[in-house]
Amino acid sequence: MASRGNFNSKIGFIAAAAGSAVGLGNIWKFPFEVADGGGAAFVLMYLGFCFILCFPVMVTEIAIGRKTQKDPVGAFGALGFPKWKFLGKMGVLAGVLILSFYNVVAGWAFGYFLEMLMGNFAIGGQFGDYIKDVVKIGAYGAVFMFSTAFIVSKGVSGGIEKASKILMPTLLILIISLVAYAMTLPHAMEGVKFYLVPDFSEINFEVVYSALGQAFFSLSLGMGALITYGSYVSKDENIISSAALITLTDISVAFLAGLMMFPFVAYMSEGNLHEVTGGPGLIFATLPGVFESFGPILGIIVGASFFLLLSFAALTSTVSLLEVPVAYAVDELKIDRKKAVWLIAIIIFIVGIPSLMANGYSPFFSSFITYMGNDNPTDFMTLVSDIANDSLLPLGGCLISFFGAYVWKKHNLNEEIAQGYPNYHGSFVEKFINLMVSYFCPIVLGIIFILTV
Ligand code: PHE
Repeated sequence: MASRGNFNSKIGFIAAAAGSAVGLGNIWKFPFEVADGGGAAFVLMYLGFCFILCFPVMVTEIAIGRKTQKDPVGAFGALGFPKWKFLGKMGVLAGVLILSFYNVVAGWAFGYFLEMLMGNFAIGGQFGDYIKDVVKIGAYGAVFMFSTAFIVSKGVSGGIEKASKILMPTLLILIISLVAYAMTLPHAMEGVKFYLVPDFSEINFEVVYSALGQAFFSLSLGMGALITYGSYVSKDENIISSAALITLTDISVAFLAGLMMFPFVAYMSEGNLHEVTGGPGLIFATLPGVFESFGPILGIIVGASFFLLLSFAALTSTVSLLEVPVAYAVDELKIDRKKAVWLIAIIIFIVGIPSLMANGYSPFFSSFITYMGNDNPTDFMTLVSDIANDSLLPLGGCLISFFGAYVWKKHNLNEEIAQGYPNYHGSFVEKFINLMVSYFCPIVLGIIFILTV
């Protein structure tokens, strides 16, 4: 056990798991998914999915991890169900795919930090050209992957825990200040209305499906990241309250990011919100202009801090993404931790090269495939992200809840949860978790998955 490492404290685990959850998913992806999904109706669905479907899956993941003290593949073996190791392997695959494109976007964020430092606010209007520059973005991506590997190689408490504890709260304070500023801008209320007043006619199956994918992606669920982090947690910790705190933190940051972005978008577009195209460029195209309005000095300070903290938020997520295949390699394949870290980081960086070239540089990867009834071809990066976030993660969640309820069995799951939660047995919470894990999660997630293939 000692050689695997552990979280030093309760707050350390929560900070690290919340650090995994809070990342580009909340600040970069959530606002543009909301914009593309028609606004508040998407937000409502996302919130519902987080509480009803994702929370029980999160509890199950942490319980499996803590019970077995193993990586996501080994965990299923340790519980006595080696046939279910495929589920862990699917998680490792999802982790590799997600990190491969996530690292590219993290490279954009880090690059924007440097642009803001130089006071280049015009970059917002040149975003399309900016991401075409594969040499530059590739170099930032390499720096990012290097930093991720460096932290992961330091082990669980030394690297991951320490970094998360300082950076998460700082980011939160900056976002809250920006929300307050956003509210004072002209047209702010139009943005807030788009974000918070639902128009249910905007809902179609694709929106449901992407809200679900977003919920899983944002909470780092369905691929064993929380089995892995759960494996470093001590027995006297309350899994339910930890999972609740992680979920609430993640949702709050996403919610605040939206509350910051839509008034900004409304301000920059002078209230013509419906003309705004969302997409992956949303924050990168919008924010530099907002920071410019602060004046040169303050603009540089706020702009650079924002993108630096965004990069750090991404870093605490990439760390958890890399930790999954690394834990697998260390525990199952018996590879030395340092070796595993660097080898896997290099492989994932290479897997990410087509995604790097899919944003205008290579016509082949930039309009890779036409699918899901869309007339416009989808680029390679979006394809990888759709497969991993919208399909593999909810499928993983479906199977993890099924596994918890019917294979490992409910009473074993409950037994594990009850350690660190003395009054759990017979409580409302236990009933809720049982109901969701046995019926709601596997059935609803299963149906949605089947409808998408
Ligand atoms: N939750 C992270 C984010 O929102 C991404 C992530 C997904 C991290 C899956 C780990 C596992 O940015």
